[in-house]
Amino acid sequence: MAQKILVTGGTGYIGSHTVVELQNAGYEVVIIDNLSNSNIGVLDGIEAITGKRPVFFEGDCTDMNTLRKCFEENPGINGIINFAASKAVGESVQKPLLYYRNNLNTLMNLLQLMPEFGTKGIVFSSSCTVYGEPDVNPIDETAPIKPATSPYGNTKQISEEIIKDYIKSGAPIKSILLRYFNPIGAHPTAKIGELPLGVPQNLVPYLTQAAAGIRKELTVFGNDYNTPDGSCIRDYIDVVDLAKAHVIAIKRILDKEDTDPVEIFNLGTGRGLSVLELIASFERATGVKVPHKIGDRRAGDIEKIWADPKKANEVLGWTAVVPIDETMKNAWAWQCHVTEK
Ligand code: NAD
Ligand code: UFG
Repeated sequence: MAQKILVTGGTGYIGSHTVVELQNAGYEVVIIDNLSNSNIGVLDGIEAITGKRPVFFEGDCTDMNTLRKCFEENPGINGIINFAASKAVGESVQKPLLYYRNNLNTLMNLLQLMPEFGTKGIVFSSSCTVYGEPDVNPIDETAPIKPATSPYGNTKQISEEIIKDYIKSGAPIKSILLRYFNPIGAHPTAKIGELPLGVPQNLVPYLTQAAAGIRKELTVFGNDYNTPDGSCIRDYIDVVDLAKAHVIAIKRILDKEDTDPVEIFNLGTGRGLSVLELIASFERATGVKVPHKIGDRRAGDIEKIWADPKKANEVLGWTAVVPIDETMKNAWAWQCHVTEK
């Protein structure tokens, strides 16, 4: 019988791509999402790609009664992939309690119900933000955790600690913490992708909207950093590559006996790209110009960070493979799909 995976936040950006990969790998998927940052139409996209509509439970994971009902109505959940969280760094500075409440209560409710319902494993969406500004690049999982610079970042650090403490206390579960670098792009079918509400805060959605004429121009936040072209460097990872790592992680937790109860992996490409290099890649891949100007630095930005993904490559047998130009092409196809709607 197929294993059943509860995907919290499964209609969101990374969640929806992961549901596609889970279904393609033969898992039965139950999504719980409160649609606070996604819409129900995403299910049509998932169905169009995979030929299968996942079970959808609309509800808020911070509400214990709702979450319990979801477990009761969907018996036999073997594992969880927990994407549900609020994720806007700037907003978290303005509304810290919203972030602590949403991100931490969601996690704690899930952890509490897992033993009761015999759910063995949880994959958690963490972030390279836990490293702050690295002392060395590429950065591996043994690097020190730096004090968080936003309540959002702090929720990721605290969540990692909560999971470790809970498992240390003897809870009969296992976990894999995945530290994402910068997820970008969309499914190559252009049927699902990122749907930012309002003015995008992140680079790629802003860039594609500027290329589409929805925004006047992209502002490159600073060209006086200590990098070869002066703009910041990140490790941009294709969202489909990222999604595939989750399938491997949940399989590892559920099917492999001899693994540590908590494992941590960087999910990145190992390649650092500057903002200006990313713009160039987009223009090369699509033939479309990105109107842009150089502006001031953005407060709180990290100068440069990219992953050492060796542990994920060797232990999980996972490697990011989608070339950056392909990722930019997919991001553009998705933007065109959204604009046409
Ligand atoms: P997203 O906002 O697209 O998806 C999150 C989903 O969770 C949304 O559909 C939202 O409606 C839902 N949700 C939020 N709170 C909920 C709650 N209490 N109950 C039920 N559903 C709830 O975000 P994403 O980019 O797909 O990110 C997924 C996860 O990955 C998040 O935990 C995020 O912090 C983490 N992450 C994202 C990035 C990134 O750059 N996108 C980087 C590192 C880590
Ligand atoms: N940038 C611009 N112009 C823009 C937007 C971004 O030049 O309009 C630059 C930023 O200065 C940065 C790079 O593009 O150098 C990437 O910025 P993003 O906002 O896309 O991503 P960040 O690396 O700042 O942060 C993202 C998520 C965080 C997460 C972090 C690590 O927003 O939630 O990756 O995973 F914590």
